[in-house]
Amino acid sequence: SALKALVSAAPKVELHLHIEGSLEPELMFALAQRNGVALPYKRVEDVRAAYQFSNLQEFLDLYYQGMSVLQTEQDYYDLTMAYLQRCQQDNVVHTEIMFDPQGHLERGIAFATVFNGISGALLDAERQWGLSHRLIMSFLRHLSEESAFAALAEAEPFLKHIHAVGLDSSEMGHPPEKFARVFARCRELGLKITAHAGEEGPPAYVWQAIDTLQVDRIDHGNRSLEDDALVQELVKRKLTLTVCPLSNLKLCVVPSLTQHPMLDMLKQGLKATVNSDDPAYFGGYVNDNYHALIDHLPLTHSHLYDLLRNGFDGAWMDDKQRQQHI
Ligand code: ADE
Ligand code: ZN
Repeated sequence: SALKALVSAAPKVELHLHIEGSLEPELMFALAQRNGVALPYKRVEDVRAAYQFSNLQEFLDLYYQGMSVLQTEQDYYDLTMAYLQRCQQDNVVHTEIMFDPQGHLERGIAFATVFNGISGALLDAERQWGLSHRLIMSFLRHLSEESAFAALAEAEPFLKHIHAVGLDSSEMGHPPEKFARVFARCRELGLKITAHAGEEGPPAYVWQAIDTLQVDRIDHGNRSLEDDALVQELVKRKLTLTVCPLSNLKLCVVPSLTQHPMLDMLKQGLKATVNSDDPAYFGGYVNDNYHALIDHLPLTHSHLYDLLRNGFDGAWMDDKQRQQHI
């Protein structure tokens, strides 16, 4: 359609992307072979066939298993460069990527190995294509506060190059307040704050992300719509929601895309954006996510313009990066 062509060609930002979730099965196999890691699959097609989830945890189990092939700095470089090439194809001009250091530290991979590989690719993409970036370090909420503080200590030599911290992994039973002290320390360090909230968890977790963690953005936020006072608060604060339509479908956060809340969010004045989350696992990159919305919701040219602009407004770009793109 004309709208799809318009969105595909438009300059875009991505604000919610887990780099480990961009590991395509082909690269997973190649890295497993390179590093002598055994995978519980015979063929690439078997991996794709396994990507059927009925909730967040079923996905996370495969996501953590998939990361086990990532071992050397080159692996992290190759992973990140493959994602950045997809950005280039999708006309994504600025991306803010998350990584999960604890998922690597736990396996004995040094923070520097992970960081150097990822940032090497980010810097090359900036030089080659003018693709700008921010790096977000995420804490795994199913692990302890102590583990989060330990990851923050490992990150210390690199903090000049890390713009923000996030909170991800299993939401239910791990409310934001579990990490109140970690995020207080991160705020003292001058880091921006985001947190996954209201993906599977209740509106109370979104309130905690706002009031206790003092977030600058909310990742997902779908279930905020169950609480009118919360919607009003998000609108008043102009807090960006990084929404991920294909992720929501694959993790059964919505029963179908025709029932996706994106249009409702825009109508209520929420600063919603379109993102891919874990594209290798959920079946699409940024343009695919826009196209899926266009196919299933009565979005107009003006709604799409708002979504694209909300992305630029919610991005943590500096003046130089903005001038480069706008
Ligand atoms: N880690 C990677 N993707 C995630 C998601 N959608 N929700 C929570 N944790 C994640
Ligand atoms: Zn996510």
